[in-house]
Amino acid sequence: MNNLQSYLDNETIEYYKWLSQFGLFTYEQSIIASYFPKGSLVLDVGCGTGRTTLGLKSLGYRVHGIDYSDKMISKAIENLPSTAFSVQNVLALEFPDNSFDCALFSFNGLMLVGSYSDRLKAMSEIMRVVRRDGVFFFTTPFLDNKVNGEYWGEKIAKFGKQLSAFSEEELLLLGDEITDEGRISFQLHVPFISEIHKMIAESNCEIVFEGRRLNLFPEETAEDELDDNYIWVVKHGKV
Ligand SMILES: C[S@@+](CC[C@H](N)C(=O)[O-])C[C@H]1O[C@@H](n2cnc3c(N)ncnc32)[C@H](O)[C@@H]1O
Repeated sequence: MNNLQSYLDNETIEYYKWLSQFGLFTYEQSIIASYFPKGSLVLDVGCGTGRTTLGLKSLGYRVHGIDYSDKMISKAIENLPSTAFSVQNVLALEFPDNSFDCALFSFNGLMLVGSYSDRLKAMSEIMRVVRRDGVFFFTTPFLDNKVNGEYWGEKIAKFGKQLSAFSEEELLLLGDEITDEGRISFQLHVPFISEIHKMIAESNCEIVFEGRRLNLFPEETAEDELDDNYIWVVKHGKV
């Protein structure tokens, strides 16, 4: 099952529909309130059934939600009928340059994009439609504090050498993770923090804010290893 098939599956849609009632998580609310100017026009990338869209609207933002799963978008429209939604792939956004004040790709969504070059393409598409002084907020899981654990230790051992001897390609491969939730599976890339720094620099962006969610928001807990994630806010770099 590829990621799009998984996000078209009724079981997945039902889960996100259930989650949508909760609106923004506390850390999302806090980052948005700090970095998205009040009343901004926000692109909600990978909006699913509209959890973040609902939260953004209730904080007074104007929002356009996009998702490549038409079933997610149908549910989002049912949940929030007076909101702009469209079926779009982040790799080829159908908006002119500078259409939005800010953008969000929540819940580690950018790491669902399958290869490094496609993640770079997704970043550049998002930044193309965000105006020059706007910001993009996203989260990623990260590998740095996991490589000494049993699970990642076993994965490293399969390469037959020390982590320090890994090529850049092997490091990318190490982080390509299939999470298996019963019948449904998702491919999620788990990067080292340095990989995201590289991706941000190669997208001609600058970091406005970064940090481990569990350190920044001590009331948060990780449900599992992948949930121990990082918060990123970036803006356009200087021309
Ligand atoms: C982890 S879910 C998050 C859903 C919602 N934003 C939330 O936080 O509850 C990721 C969403 O991103 C969408 N997605 C993944 N890859 C995408 C792509 N290439 N283009 C557009 N949407 C994508 C999926 O269909 C899914 O709805």
